[in-house]
This record gives sequence, structure tokens and C-alpha cells, in this order.
Amino acid sequence: MDFLQITGGAKLSGSVEISGAKNAALPIIASTILAKNEVKITNMPEVVDIKTLIKLLGNLGANTKLANHTLSIDTTSINSTKATYDIVRKMRASILVLGPLLSRFGHCEVSLPGGCAIGARPIDLHLAALEKMGAQISIEDGYVVAHAPSGLKGCEIMFDKITVTGCENILMAAALAKGKTRILNAAKEPEVVQICEILRDSGLSISGIGTSEIELEGSGGELLSMPDIKVISDRIEAGTYLCAAAMSASKITLNHTQKELLGAVIDKLELMGASFEYKDESITIIPPKSLSPVEITTTEFPGFPTDMQAQFMALACVAKGVSIIDERLFENRFMHASELVRMGANIKLNGHIATITGASLKAADVMATDLRASSALVIAALGASGVSNIHRIYHLDRGYENLEGKLSALGADIKRLKED
Ligand code: UD1
Repeated sequence: MDFLQITGGAKLSGSVEISGAKNAALPIIASTILAKNEVKITNMPEVVDIKTLIKLLGNLGANTKLANHTLSIDTTSINSTKATYDIVRKMRASILVLGPLLSRFGHCEVSLPGGCAIGARPIDLHLAALEKMGAQISIEDGYVVAHAPSGLKGCEIMFDKITVTGCENILMAAALAKGKTRILNAAKEPEVVQICEILRDSGLSISGIGTSEIELEGSGGELLSMPDIKVISDRIEAGTYLCAAAMSASKITLNHTQKELLGAVIDKLELMGASFEYKDESITIIPPKSLSPVEITTTEFPGFPTDMQAQFMALACVAKGVSIIDERLFENRFMHASELVRMGANIKLNGHIATITGASLKAADVMATDLRASSALVIAALGASGVSNIHRIYHLDRGYENLEGKLSALGADIKRLKED
């Protein structure tokens, strides 16, 4: 197993290329199940989660080729509709194949994802919506077994809670359904917007893109003629590099990103004392010498993303004063706090609220617990005095492409080493 060794205190400079968004690429790959043609997807992040989903589709019979950040995928050869436990257990987002498989084949079996480090993460809203569209669903031997022998039917779906992958799953199910589907309380995340745009560019009539009310007229079973697709830029990767710059008080430039994707993150960094310059598709951050404290409540887009909460907690650890973080989306998403405390942070947890009093961080051996918690520990280590070792970085590899290569090119002292 690999670990990262980081010597804190280095100044960063220069620019970094932001990769395609993992969370946009995952539903895009799943959506190719709806296509009658081979689809070419560029700006594909080459991270473990993406390779896992490509493998899942390969197991179902799709022909796939990933090279130079371009995926060519032909799903017309799919001859199995069973997404097995050995893959789904590695990545919850595998549930994204449920909607498209069911709408194309009228039946499928998808292993039920378990809980994960950040909470129980049920899929009840995905299943209730598919049932409303006419699917018969049962849970058998740990699998979601779904049937819709005469196809799915469009209807009105009101999500009790905003769910990103739930909304994406229903959009893909609705794409081949008969008639109109109206989704209320839909997610507005840029990754959901991209799926809507792809369905529109594949010939479907869709309105309300980017709003909480989306209407889509299904094709009635006819497969889609899908265009070539370019994955949008990864706003969480971009936000993570902005935090790395803020932690090391270093001016850096991010290329291939857009400020529209990062509104709430940039707002909070400005409140902490940073300023920004924008040019075409690049963002330059000019951080302050010392950070001001911050108050954050995680919420759905365009609010502050839960996927940036851990990285901002790392910044709050060294800010001058008391910061408050209120985590509203996931019940157990403070696992990084106890690791940050091992580096000298002063953090008090009370349910979903963390109170962080700024202190200076010192290097330690720490353990990554989930994807974004891992990047928070990297950011903390960049600002800590001494040599930190971050273990269990397979979490990082799920979602960050070449993190140590990109940070090291910016000037960080970071090495990937093998555990004994
Ligand atoms: C997606 C992102 C993840 C991000 C999260 C919130 C992907 C692959 N992952 O996850 O990185 O942290 O959005 O922005 O895009 N819920 C239910 N029942 C359901 C579905 C969700 O109760 O059927 C709850 C969840 O437990 C959570 C909330 O709704 O409390 C939001 O979760 P959701 O938006 O579904 O997260 P994901 O789509 O899994």
C-alpha cells in the first residue's frame, strides 16, 4: 500500500491543470447505456473510480477503450444486466447504472451499495422514483432486482430531499420512458446540468435545465444517438488546489476551470482574506499572509459543497480565530477532525457542528478515511511544521488524478512511498 510523505512549509507557485470532473464523468459513462452508437468522451479523469465504472460496463459486455483522457465506449454489445457486488462495493456511484439499464432492457439487478465512511447513504429515493415510473422492485440476496416488462412510464417525481445521483438516475430512466417525466426538487449541480445537456443534444426535448423543476419527454424505448462529449472541469479538484494555495499563502493559477463552478468556495476564500484574478478559463488565487476564520454550512449547489468541507476545516485549523462548520448533508462526515487533532488542531465536535479555534499545525502520521478527508490531510500537512505521513491514500486515488505530481510541480515537498 502507498502513503504520502509531505514536508510542510514549502511555498507553491506556477499553474496547475484541472482535470475533468469525476462526478460528472460517472453519470456520463452510465448514460452511454442509452446510446445506439459508440460514444467518444474527452477530458476523462484517469482516476480509480472512473476505471471501476468502466470495468463494470465492460463486465456487462460493453466495448471500452480509455487512453489519453479519452474514453471510447460502445454499449450496443451489452449482454448482461447484472452489476455484481464485487464492483459495486468498491464504489457506491455504481448505482448510476440502475436507471439506464432498467429503461433500456426492462430488467436489471444491481448490488445494493452498503453504507460508507461518511454515513448510511440510502438509495430509497432512487427506488421510490423508479417504482412511480412503473418498475417493480424487490431486494433479493443483497441485490436491487428491478423489472419494467412493458417499459417505464413518464410521471411526476417529487424528491423529498435533493439527491444528485438520484436525479441523474431518474433523468437517464426517463430518457427512454414513454411520455413526459417532471422532476420536482431536482438537483441543480453542474454535473446534473451536464447530463441534461447531453440528453438534449441526443435529441430529447428537455426544459428547466439547471433549475429545480426539470421536464423531459422520453423516447418511448428508442435508443439515443449520442454526440461526442467533453467532461466539465472538476470543481472539487479545483477547490482543493485553491485550499492548498491558501494554506501555503502562495499565489497559484488554476487552468481549465471556471469561476461559475466555484462560486460558494471562492466567496468563503474571499471572506478568509484571499483575492482572485480571472482570465478565460483560468483562476489565480492571491491568498493573505494569515487566514481569517470562517463560518460554513454545507448545502446543495449553488451553496457550499459538502465535498469541500474537509479541506476548509484544514484551513480553519490555522485561521486566526474561531471558525464554525455546520455539515448538513452527511451525518458522519467529520472523520478527518480526529486526524487533524493529531496534528495539533483545536476542534470541538457537537453533532453536525464543528468549532475550530486556529492554532499552528505540527506534522504527524495520519490516516485517510474517505476521499475528501484525505485531501484535507494533504492540505494540513502542507501547512504543518515537519514531515507528515498520510496513510491509506487509496481513498485519494479514487478521485484525484496525480495529486502528488501536480502538487510537486507547484513546488510542494511531497513523495509517494510504499508502506513496509
Ligand atoms: C453525490 C456526489 C458526492 C457528494 C453528494 C452531495 C457523485 C458520484 N457523488 O453523492 O460526491 O458529496 O452528491 O453533494 O456525484 N439521500 C437519501 N436517500 C436517497 C438518496 C440520498 O436519504 O435515496 C440523502 C443522502 O443520505 C444525503 C443527501 O440525501 O444525506 C444527499 O445525497 P446525494 O445527493 O444523493 O449524494 P450522492 O448522489 O450519493
